[in-house]
Amino acid sequence: MQSHDAPPSDLTGVAYGRPAGRHDAFLTEVGPGTPCGEFMRRYWHPVTLSERVTATPARIRILGEDLIVFRDRSGRPGLLHNRCAHRGTDLFYGRVEPEGIRCCYHGWLFSVEGRCLDQPCEKGGGANRERIRQPWYPVQERYGILWAYMGPPERMPLLPRWDILETIEPGLKLHVSHSSLYAGGDDDVEIVPCNWLQEWENVMDPFHIPVLHTTFSGVQFVLEMGVMPEVEWEYTEDGIRYTAYRKLEDGRELDRITAASFPYVRMVPNVQLRHGAAGGVGFVVPVDDTHFRLCFAMKIPEDQNALPRSPNLRPWSKMTEEERQRYPGDWEAQVGQGPITFHNEEHLATSDKGVGMLRRSLRQQIKAVQEGRDPAGVNFDPEKVIIRVEAGNWFRDGG
Ligand code: FES
Ligand SMILES: [Fe+2]
Repeated sequence: MQSHDAPPSDLTGVAYGRPAGRHDAFLTEVGPGTPCGEFMRRYWHPVTLSERVTATPARIRILGEDLIVFRDRSGRPGLLHNRCAHRGTDLFYGRVEPEGIRCCYHGWLFSVEGRCLDQPCEKGGGANRERIRQPWYPVQERYGILWAYMGPPERMPLLPRWDILETIEPGLKLHVSHSSLYAGGDDDVEIVPCNWLQEWENVMDPFHIPVLHTTFSGVQFVLEMGVMPEVEWEYTEDGIRYTAYRKLEDGRELDRITAASFPYVRMVPNVQLRHGAAGGVGFVVPVDDTHFRLCFAMKIPEDQNALPRSPNLRPWSKMTEEERQRYPGDWEAQVGQGPITFHNEEHLATSDKGVGMLRRSLRQQIKAVQEGRDPAGVNFDPEKVIIRVEAGNWFRDGG
């Protein structure tokens, strides 16, 4: 073995003196008043699953805001700022009644629209109670998901529909979940501890599939994914799409179309490479600047109750840290970039073209909002409410 008891002679490139890491706040930070946060607040957000909206208040953190979700005893869903308008007690400890939620401290009662309906410590239930408004957000339920609009009221668009979710073929059902499985986690883990953009731009990164998911960690999906694809990216009306062309060993030719649309929608075909359109739509919902939660609406076989998973993928929460070193997946790759990656340290290469395009068009949309325009993909026309999903595995011989 070579001896290492002398210092290296070439000291170029040492870590000493490198610039401090910085993230691009314009593209990543989502709190109220931030450029990206204001952009995000022009869309409807999947907040939680409808089945979790009950008479027991639940905490929701989304876009850096702490909210309380509940269903009043008349069945109406409500999403309120968590701090009581009286003196700030957490409405998580409130009691749900037919008309709304009652704060535990002095009993002020708020409707799902934040109107104060009762102040039991005041004479006559509060002569001035109608002056009080608990901050609230408008909500809607669709596909078994509770959606909220958290932006300026006069710019509220229509809640979109996706064509593949509108028709449920025989033998299938619509399944909604907050599983982190497709971010490298699993069904037992909901919140992923890194910035939402690390996950969303990964959707436009087809070249990590043959490496991370096929050779580095063994075959996590299917062997055919190991064929290096020829990729073409293109801008769409509401985001970016790529087509990955592969000629498989058996001679079949596959176009795999994956799409990302604003603000963080992901349309990814099945990883088993079965012919046909993507089975669902996913959302990379920012919890805050350093956490996100995935939400999926996906068609699955009637007799199943979870997202389809590759049998080759090990259950993340059961792996030891040492196993994660040997078989890293998307979680290790993306959370491994840090809470918010340092953009100034990156070296984007030609294979990162999709990532570059995604960031460029995201930046344009954030600027559009700053300049007083509506960002791409928000829609006010009921005729255009259905979004056509083109993502899928398309074999040129028809599968
Ligand atoms: S703090 Fe909520 S009623 Fe007083
Ligand atoms: Fe991946």
